[in-house]
Amino acid sequence: MRVLVTGGAGYIGSHTLVELLTEGHEAFVFDNLSNGHEEALSRVKQLANKDFGFVKGDIRDGEALDKAFLEFKPEAVIHFAGLKAVGESVEQPLAYYENNVAGSVELLKAMGAHDCKKIVFSSSATVYGTPQYLPLDEDHPVSPVNPYGQTKLMVENILKDWAQDGRSATALRYFNPVGAHVSGRIGEDPHDIPNNLMPYIAQVAIGKREALQIFGDDYETRDGTGERDYIHVTDLANAHIAALGTMNEAAGFSVYNVGTGQGTTVKELLAAYGETVGQELPFETVQRRSGDVASSVASPKKANEALNWSATLSVHDATSSSWNWQAQNPDGYAQ
Ligand code: NAD
Ligand code: UD1
Repeated sequence: MRVLVTGGAGYIGSHTLVELLTEGHEAFVFDNLSNGHEEALSRVKQLANKDFGFVKGDIRDGEALDKAFLEFKPEAVIHFAGLKAVGESVEQPLAYYENNVAGSVELLKAMGAHDCKKIVFSSSATVYGTPQYLPLDEDHPVSPVNPYGQTKLMVENILKDWAQDGRSATALRYFNPVGAHVSGRIGEDPHDIPNNLMPYIAQVAIGKREALQIFGDDYETRDGTGERDYIHVTDLANAHIAALGTMNEAAGFSVYNVGTGQGTTVKELLAAYGETVGQELPFETVQRRSGDVASSVASPKKANEALNWSATLSVHDATSSSWNWQAQNPDGYAQ
């Protein structure tokens, strides 16, 4: 299939490109590089041993989208482009509504103008808000607690309305993406300070930080630290390809959790990383982070059954691939 990938130069987009190209699809990347890396695209080409097009453009720019659609004539879009820092979304909500919501509307308009009828969208488990029960299934009520989460839910609702008359949309609600490509050639390299736990642990492992700060050890979990469902980025990448395979004129709108169904606590993830690097990693316990929940674990049953997809990689696969990436590229993509 010919697939236009917005945000393809970012963390999840670059890993998905490798799998997409390896599976024999044609790809074209549209990314404004606000948090992505052109170097990641060069490495994807080497890993997949296949070329693809790239345009530096912004999804809020209808004309740039139009040109890309005219040039590439995609049959489907995988839509990763967007801003993703929860704290920043509280400080600058309009930037989030503009990039994530208005940008997605521009993209759908371009798809309409060029008769492109399939889209896979990066949603997030954050749409569930505070869990009322676990594991979280797709019927759990949605109630995002920050502007970032609101933008994800708004785009899901827009897609629900859009996906008719032969158009189909799949929203994938990612749990906590971690790890890197097994080669260590591509991985997570945020332009600013990291947002999530695993990159912080990686920085402790490589000596860039003295100790991991654990945000609270008095939660109602096995060891008191927060529990999450960590999904390997390569498993996550493959969920997009599985989703594309199920989309047809009658598919309409679908939503799936993408997780493993297994919870891992902060201390367990830190210990697993320590095993990977062969030494215990230091930590200090600090106050809870506001907005955090004790536990978030997916029921991936719907994706397992309807997409014929399931996670195959372990937390240890994630820590070892993350370490491989970190050790080979201590400064990320900077040369
Ligand atoms: P990322 O920041 O690495 O990738 C996003 C890419 O989109 C970047 O390359 C960036 O340059 C590009 N981009 C941003 N705004 C754009 C715009 N207006 N026009 C064109 N390109 C733009 O993030 P990621 O971790 O790869 O996440 C990809 C998607 O998955 C995002 O939509 C994110 O909200 C969602 N998501 C991520 C996580 C996570 O923990 N990483 C969890 C749930 C959902
Ligand atoms: C965060 C976002 C969420 C987003 C998700 C995936 C918040 C409040 N939530 O969730 O909206 O969908 O990322 O991108 O930011 N932790 C530490 N020390 C650290 C970093 C994290 O102890 O330095 C703990 C957290 O308290 C949590 C766990 O590690 O228990 C995972 O944190 P993180 O990776 O930020 O993910 P989420 O909290 O799930």
